[in-house]
Amino acid sequence: MKIFLDTAAVDELKKGLEWGLVDGVTTNPSLIAKEGKPYREALKEVLAIVPGPVSCEVLATEAGAMVEEAKVLADLGTNVVIKVPFTPEGLKATRTLHGLGIPVNVTLVFSPNQALLAAKAGAAYVSPFVGRLDDIGHDGMELVAQILEMFANYGFETEVIAASVRHPDHVKQAAMMGCHIATVPFKVLQACFKHPLTDIGLENFLADIKKAGIRW
Ligand code: G3P
Repeated sequence: MKIFLDTAAVDELKKGLEWGLVDGVTTNPSLIAKEGKPYREALKEVLAIVPGPVSCEVLATEAGAMVEEAKVLADLGTNVVIKVPFTPEGLKATRTLHGLGIPVNVTLVFSPNQALLAAKAGAAYVSPFVGRLDDIGHDGMELVAQILEMFANYGFETEVIAASVRHPDHVKQAAMMGCHIATVPFKVLQACFKHPLTDIGLENFLADIKKAGIRW
């Protein structure tokens, strides 16, 4: 499973890249707003340091304007993926951009049928938001499983990005069901490292090394 970082914070991206764990990045207007930089400047910084695909979201809501913005964004780097919201206008833009050879990530997907329509429009990626579904008492990961099954039935090449990931169990479940990608906030990536027995085990090794005076 590919791991994308769901952040526009350069320090987080640099750390993830040092660990060799960043296959790509997803951003959205809310994440860019947190960085307090002009929209396209913030995206350019991310695109410059990340070798993999970077989802850059359009701000317009009408298809023609989305396509115009997408063309500008696509010129910012060879690794740009255009993120569009799941709306009828978003799907119109997706079809046009697919025809132009520009990859699209359709975001704000909350149902299997939305994912199906996005794939049929030529989306390279769909992003079901698992955490936000869990928040309202649904099972976000069940949606991911349903989309994967649906795409496998018809051989769609659209990749599924488990998004709105809130904790390491979402990551584990996504990997166990064969999801193509999980996009994770930096703190969730950090949490994936953690196990108390690993920490205790290392403490014990270090204490024994000291006690026995072991040297390299
Ligand atoms: O990738 C989508 C993600 O940024 C949404 O996450 O935590 O705002 O639901 P969240």
